[in-house]
Amino acid sequence: MYRLAVLLSGRGSNFEAILNAIKNGYIKNGKIVVVISNNKEARGLKVAKDNGLDAIFVDPKGKDRETYDREIVEILKKYDVDYVLLAGYMRILSGYFVNSFKNRILNIHPALLPSFKGLHAQRQAIEKGVRFSGATVHFVTENLDDGPIIVQSVVPVYDSDDEDSLSERILKTEHKIYPLAVKLLTEDRLKINNGRVLVDWDEADDFYVTNPKVGGEDGV
Ligand code: GAR
Repeated sequence: MYRLAVLLSGRGSNFEAILNAIKNGYIKNGKIVVVISNNKEARGLKVAKDNGLDAIFVDPKGKDRETYDREIVEILKKYDVDYVLLAGYMRILSGYFVNSFKNRILNIHPALLPSFKGLHAQRQAIEKGVRFSGATVHFVTENLDDGPIIVQSVVPVYDSDDEDSLSERILKTEHKIYPLAVKLLTEDRLKINNGRVLVDWDEADDFYVTNPKVGGEDGV
């Protein structure tokens, strides 16, 4: 059983999606051992507590990035964490943090990376006029929103969309692909090869259209 930590800054709906996937047995080989936030008021911290999980606020005030991250890494080590899941965690990680958990940190970003990195990815997509956007779960490296891609979802962007409506459409798919990525991770079905993630797909992974065992060689 892999030991998972979730880092979040706000609402925590992706965290909830992962928690539900653990509860209903979709993710079998992982359990959340601690939830950490840089925001005392984060709804996600409350959800964690309500579910009987250890929920820790680490105050960033007056600390530089690395000092703060050393505190977090210490907690993660204390909890003997195998994998770190960033779920709406609105801080850039220091090199120290990334190297302490090399290839063991996942993030979800509300765009089809490498497009629209950084803040307000959905707004960036609308402003650029793309017809499709989506979400990406990827391994975290020292470069922002830039690590090896694990799974992606695709959604249409309509002329009538604003940032909120597109965010909502993307979020629904985030709640599917993050649990899928964690399932693949904790079943040891991901391999990083020259910056690419190779997945050991299964017929059961039916959400992901580029799964050749479901969608056929051309996808969909
Ligand atoms: C999600 O849309 C996630 O993709 C995004 O923040 C939201 C968090 O929602 N993350 C980023 O923009 C990171 N660059 P949640 O707290 O309900 O999971």
